[in-house]
Amino acid sequence: MAKMKKIGVLTSGGDAPGMNAAIRGATRTALYHGIEVVGIQNGYQGMIGGYFKQLKSHMVGDIIQRGGTMLKSARSDEFRKEEGRQKAYEMIKAEDIDGIVVIGGDGTFKGARIFSLEYDVPLVGIPGTIDNDLYGTDYTIGYDTALNTIVEAVDKIRDTASSHNRLFFIEVMGKDAGFLALRSGIACGAEAILIPEINRDTATLREHLEADYKRRKLSNIILVAEGDETGGAFNIAEQVREEFEGYDIRVTVLGHIQRGGSPSAFDRVIGSQLGVAAVEALMDDQKSVMVGLMNREVVHVPFNRTIKHHKDVNRRLVDIQDILSI
Ligand code: F6P
Repeated sequence: MAKMKKIGVLTSGGDAPGMNAAIRGATRTALYHGIEVVGIQNGYQGMIGGYFKQLKSHMVGDIIQRGGTMLKSARSDEFRKEEGRQKAYEMIKAEDIDGIVVIGGDGTFKGARIFSLEYDVPLVGIPGTIDNDLYGTDYTIGYDTALNTIVEAVDKIRDTASSHNRLFFIEVMGKDAGFLALRSGIACGAEAILIPEINRDTATLREHLEADYKRRKLSNIILVAEGDETGGAFNIAEQVREEFEGYDIRVTVLGHIQRGGSPSAFDRVIGSQLGVAAVEALMDDQKSVMVGLMNREVVHVPFNRTIKHHKDVNRRLVDIQDILSI
């Protein structure tokens, strides 16, 4: 294949702290190797609209410490349609872009896979989502920062929960996955967690609460993943309220605070590592792969695999959470 002369970089889907480190990593690696870089604004939507801007080294300076994404992000309905992707291809060709680094989650890679099946444009993905729910990588960019944000918030809620002997249901993000709830549950000493991967009936929760109630332990923190089958923190709180009149119950939904903030050192480092790896993969003629991290090593996982396989939570951590919350 002819040498890459110009690459595009975009971020798509929900933003995640550390995406900027990945943009900087990819941009500077390309420039280091004499490849031009074009920043594509607003994800796939920007590809369709031709929102391209040439990136120079100084333009990705002073961003590694910032949350969000300097390229902005979007979920594009138009790119889901054939005509949208056709327009995007024409724009890419007109701009002479030889390869693209896409940073995002599951939806981003689904789009990348279809596009690369239809058109001969090499695409390499970088996992960026606070949910950590991508198969083929131990960590996604943004997960560590979001965890730390949750831990800080839950610790604060714990102070008031203890002072008032209250039971708090705290909802964290993860529409299909419980990675955030599980790990932050352990880190905060939560009394229970409710996640979509574990089909925990309300009877188990009831037993737990009854035992606590008997020993007059009235302050409790229960972390609920938004995607849990109980239907979220408000729903489960309502059910418990009907059964346990003795509890003073409150609900907190942490929401989008989890997506913002300055990235942790960990996310800055993996963002940089994967940014470099993505451009090196493109230079190496790789296409339709995600660069991920397994056992601290960079791996290349075909889009196909990362999309089709489901990443499970660490079951040992689930046991640990149970053991430690007696
Ligand atoms: O980034 C993934 C995610 O955080 C999910 O956990 C959550 O359900 C969703 O994004 C929220 O997305 P939006 O910002 O579009 O409301």
